[in-house]
Amino acid sequence: MPSPFGLKRIMSTIPITESRNLALLYHLNSEPWLNQQAYSQPSQMSAFKTLGKAEVTLPVCGSTPLTELIGARTSCRNFANAPISIGGLASLLHHTYGTLGLREDGTARMHHRPVPSAGALYPLELYVLVRAVDGLPPGLYHYAAWRHSLELVDTGASMEDFLAELLRQFYVAEASAIVFFTAVFPRTMKKYGPRGYRYILLEAGHAAQNLCLLAAEQKLATLCLGGFRDSAINAKLGLNVAIEGAVYSVAVGHSA
Ligand SMILES: Cc1cc2nc3c(=O)[nH]c(=O)nc-3n(C[C@H](O)[C@H](O)[C@H](O)COP(=O)(O)O)c2cc1C
Repeated sequence: MPSPFGLKRIMSTIPITESRNLALLYHLNSEPWLNQQAYSQPSQMSAFKTLGKAEVTLPVCGSTPLTELIGARTSCRNFANAPISIGGLASLLHHTYGTLGLREDGTARMHHRPVPSAGALYPLELYVLVRAVDGLPPGLYHYAAWRHSLELVDTGASMEDFLAELLRQFYVAEASAIVFFTAVFPRTMKKYGPRGYRYILLEAGHAAQNLCLLAAEQKLATLCLGGFRDSAINAKLGLNVAIEGAVYSVAVGHSA
């Protein structure tokens, strides 16, 4: 019987013999859907919760280089048609999710990475769609974090190809690059089960924030993009969809 959630289609790609795969069923069932009414509503002020209890007013906060970067980060939907440098991109990738050296943790030697990771399992992989990076031909690359190198995935991949799958958010057409955060789900879920799925998404948020703040430090602009067609993007990235999927993406470039 056809399911309103498209389970029939999904079961053909992910076996549901173990409970942890329910999280992956959810993942594939959360492809974009359009609530036209919600999209047509004007932006609103943030909502805040107030308990109506006695309050302690906090001191006014000072400014530091980090607080300035946090304040400078904002969503850019007007990129300039200008390249970023390969050195700048290298720094973004390295400090977003690279390896910062080895450290001893009890009896284990482990990589020190720029984000916290549940169980130090580091489920994320980064792919970079390069449109305009000085010193790097356009195309799709995989960031080999351990070697701090870019592996060429597809020389023919272009921003135009990806735009349709980014829900036609044409304002990223001029971004210099888009970094896709993908997850190898079993790395974390084999230890934490379905809860590991949450941990993976949380970790992607940590990594994406690193990228946004590092870009702000280089006076570059970013746009975090959760709106993309998973199946199509996964296919374009060449992922093994039984265990991997794109979870987040960030466009980076110069603000116009
Ligand atoms: C998980 C997530 C997904 C988002 N996806 C999109 C997106 O697909 N397209 C877009 O234009 N903005 C997207 N945004 C950016 C938000 O619209 C933006 O952060 C919000 O309007 C607040 O503005 P600011 O980033 O300038 O502070 C996303 C933000 C988050 C955290």
